[in-house]
Amino acid sequence: MARRHESLIPLSHGHHHGLVLSLRIRRTLARSGLDADALRELARAVVAFFESDLAWHFAAEEEGLFPLMEANLGRLALIEELREEHDRFRAWIEALRRSMKTTPSAETLQAFGVLLHDHIRKEERVLFPIFEQRMPPEEARRAGEAIARRLAVLSPRERGDIWPLLDI
Ligand SMILES: [Fe+2]
Ligand SMILES: [Fe+2]
Repeated sequence: MARRHESLIPLSHGHHHGLVLSLRIRRTLARSGLDADALRELARAVVAFFESDLAWHFAAEEEGLFPLMEANLGRLALIEELREEHDRFRAWIEALRRSMKTTPSAETLQAFGVLLHDHIRKEERVLFPIFEQRMPPEEARRAGEAIARRLAVLSPRERGDIWPLLDI
């Protein structure tokens, strides 16, 4: 497999964490006799991952990667699709937050995990190769800076803030 463009590596790291979560969702939902407590615990993990990682990952793509790709390559239906999927994840997170005091929907959790896997695969296998093949080198470098800036400014994980919290 070709080596990832340097500018995209922080996003690929995020994708790795996302795939781990998707697998956890699938494995948990496959367990028999899943009760409301287990669903709440899973929903809490999904919302926590969104807050610590995914929200900032989406922002880095929407504000750092997508606009620079569109400025250089024109409008891409694929990017429209990816933006719509980000919105769908945000809506599911809202629904999971609202359901935390009752019973989170297993269907919503499952749909979240499946789309997360497919969304990541689409970015890794379709979007990133377009970036690597068609972006002018200087623009690709600029995109990398924009992505890194968004992640460094916003993401608790990138800032390192989340680790002291987890140690308590
Ligand atoms: Fe994305
Ligand atoms: Fe992504």
